[in-house]
Amino acid sequence: MRGAAGEIRKVCVVGFGVMGRGIVQICAQSGYETSVVARREESLREGIAAVEDVLRKLVKKGRIDEDDVGAALSRIHTTTSIEEGAKDADIVIEAVYEDISVKKEVFEELDNICPPHTILGSNTSTISIAMLGAVTKRPDKVIGVHFMNPPPVIPAVEIVRSLKTSEETVRRTIEFVRSLGKETVTVKDSPGFVTSRMMVLMLNEAVKIAESNIASVEDIDKVIKLSFGWPMGPFQLLDLIGVDVVANALNAIYEETGWERFKPAVTMVQMARVGWKGRKTGKGFYDYRSA
Ligand SMILES: NC(=O)c1ccc[n+]([C@@H]2O[C@H](COP(=O)([O-])OP(=O)(O)OC[C@H]3O[C@@H](n4cnc5c(N)ncnc54)[C@H](O)[C@@H]3O)[C@@H](O)[C@H]2O)c1
Repeated sequence: MRGAAGEIRKVCVVGFGVMGRGIVQICAQSGYETSVVARREESLREGIAAVEDVLRKLVKKGRIDEDDVGAALSRIHTTTSIEEGAKDADIVIEAVYEDISVKKEVFEELDNICPPHTILGSNTSTISIAMLGAVTKRPDKVIGVHFMNPPPVIPAVEIVRSLKTSEETVRRTIEFVRSLGKETVTVKDSPGFVTSRMMVLMLNEAVKIAESNIASVEDIDKVIKLSFGWPMGPFQLLDLIGVDVVANALNAIYEETGWERFKPAVTMVQMARVGWKGRKTGKGFYDYRSA
């Protein structure tokens, strides 16, 4: 089946973690042949099981049919070879760790593998799109496609253009993202863009407030949810996003700008170091192991 954006038929997602899984799910549900690249077979198996689980829950809720599950899963092609996954993709969405050296390596590889027309998108929360474009011979086709967590649920996608991203790339990417049923906002390449810059600063402040014993983690979550209408409190959100992901995002903005307020709170750094990264490791600010 052909995706609604016309020009884009095949999608490749690199990285099958929290975000990769959600992106793969919506691309496959929207009719795109979607290849997904992970480093290990085990990650592919776990990722597919997680996507299937989410789709089955949608069936139980009456949002999709059993047939839709089979159809979506049949469009997902898994591989541990980036070459196999990306060689005939019209757009690649990279969703690997928020680490500039890891991402640069992936972009260099993708540039060598993909046909000239392929758009190289990154789901990065903070890393400069210009920096990723600079390791390729096609900086005009490198763009930020910033899905929010969880991608199937959150309606907005930030489209991030560097000074070198072409109008054509922006147009094709917006068309593609809208065909996934998402709304887009186009922003300039800048540390943290709009959403991460605001969000990580608030989450950092929440941790600093807890560190100062002004209120407990539970009470901060309670008062923010009830006062601001957030669906979850800052610590629940930290655990959902990943404590390490937020700490890395803060660090990336801090290192690029020198703005002290983006220096990650000590507790967050220590938790990331010992593996208390949130839901994905079973423990973060809350404990999920017995749940
Ligand atoms: N978690 C969030 O809430 C959120 C929201 C928006 C954007 N992002 C961004 O999305 C990206 C991914 O974040 P995540 O939360 O999914 O992280 P994650 O740690 O859950 O997943 C990253 C995955 O990438 C894999 N990986 C690493 N190097 C790889 C490589 N060379 N090839 C293939 N796979 C590789 C890892 O094994 C891991 O499974 C980051 O850039 C992050 O900033 C995250």
